[in-house]
Amino acid sequence: MAKREQWGSRIGFVIAAIGSAIGLGNIWRFPYMAYDNGGGAFLIPYFFAMLTAGIPIIILEFAVGHKYKGSAPMSFAKAKEKWEWLGWWQVFISFIISIYYVVVIAWALNYTLLAFNLGWGEDTKGFFFTKFLHITSSPMEWGNIVWPIFTATVILWFINWLVLFSGIKKGIEFANKIFMPLLFILLIIMLGRAITLDGATKGLQWLFRPDFSAILNYKVWTAAYGQIFFSLSICFGIMITYASYLPEKSDINNNGMITTFINCGFSILAGITIFSVLGYMATKQGVSVKDVAGAGVGLAFVTIPKAINLLPGAKFFGTLFFLALVFAGLSSMISITETCVSGLMDKFKWDRKPTTSLFCVVGFLLSLIFTTQGGLLILDIVDHFINNFGIVFAGLIEIILLSWFFNLDSLREHANSISDFSVGKWWNFCLKILTPIVLGYMAIANLIGDIKKPYGGYPTSGVLIFGWAVVIGIVILSFVMQMGHSFNNKK
Ligand code: ALA
Repeated sequence: MAKREQWGSRIGFVIAAIGSAIGLGNIWRFPYMAYDNGGGAFLIPYFFAMLTAGIPIIILEFAVGHKYKGSAPMSFAKAKEKWEWLGWWQVFISFIISIYYVVVIAWALNYTLLAFNLGWGEDTKGFFFTKFLHITSSPMEWGNIVWPIFTATVILWFINWLVLFSGIKKGIEFANKIFMPLLFILLIIMLGRAITLDGATKGLQWLFRPDFSAILNYKVWTAAYGQIFFSLSICFGIMITYASYLPEKSDINNNGMITTFINCGFSILAGITIFSVLGYMATKQGVSVKDVAGAGVGLAFVTIPKAINLLPGAKFFGTLFFLALVFAGLSSMISITETCVSGLMDKFKWDRKPTTSLFCVVGFLLSLIFTTQGGLLILDIVDHFINNFGIVFAGLIEIILLSWFFNLDSLREHANSISDFSVGKWWNFCLKILTPIVLGYMAIANLIGDIKKPYGGYPTSGVLIFGWAVVIGIVILSFVMQMGHSFNNKK
């Protein structure tokens, strides 16, 4: 069997891990998550989740990937043969994410071009939903393909294909070494400009204003855990895959901490940038920040363009913002798709090039659904279900299996034996007791909530097909994948 590919250097791996972590989740999702869930009060569960779940799980996944030198299915199969399905489940989660994630980057790519002459005009909401997306009224009504979105999706899949096709060192590591420094430069320029705007503090007060009534709400905690998992790229196979390309002598604990802190720091800085701009806009219009901030997708594609219109140097900053979204998104997209390609290569002993080509073509074809007029509505449902019932449950099962039905200490010892510093028993406590209790409670409360009330007021048929059927379907498919021939290279 061909030797497993490896990263070219320690820094190459860390940059790729950070590139995976920092994505649309940090720039587009984090600010509105924090805002919607009590501003400053959200940050308490967020940091709690980061310290007690984010850091322990990223170290756990690095240890698993490094020890078993395999994609998620292969690593779990090597730990215990009958756990292979868990790896496939995570691969399918990544696959589903990849097919809609690319479309959000495609919107950002279109908006980068539009920014050159502020092509979204004054009515940014009308522009986004009607003129740009041509949105239909129901997820069951797909309408036609929207060509500018289609074109950008083709370009992005092509870049993604090229990077994966070129391999770990020449493709993924190289791409991240370009995208990441550029992204940080863009953020610093935007941050410097944003915080010096008139009224910036007004926005920041909104973001950091503690609303302690929110802190007892399980939904706020679920949102914080969901955000940490999505943003750190944990519990959906990615970090296991990336760590499987590490050389024998590699630090794990320190790299896990570095990735976590840089990722979460980036989120906070992106939040500060965006809310400073919103504060400026509110001040200019003489309204409160609450009245200008739109939630969800609206924040990046409706509210930000509106705020950009008012900025001195609007075209320049508009271009920078959407370009940042594209760079951040692409480097994450690469990791999400590599997780799938790696799983297929390990399982079927296929070569990288044909596997990448096959995967990208299938991925592209399926992502066309999201380039239709109904795309955003379908995306919203799939995203909600895959986050709340895919990532969260796959993460919960992963830590329960590895800490209660496996020798967790052997993984800790493995990580410690090659790391700059050691993690203590607190790591076991977080993984074995604390996180399963908090996460388990939230996951079940969330499940009951969604069963009682169809998500987002969408028609039941849409929620059944794009929500429940997808999340249940991929669990079934995971068991089917396990039934194929086994990884006959057990350690
Ligand atoms: N970690 C990636 C993000 O935050 C998936 O977007």
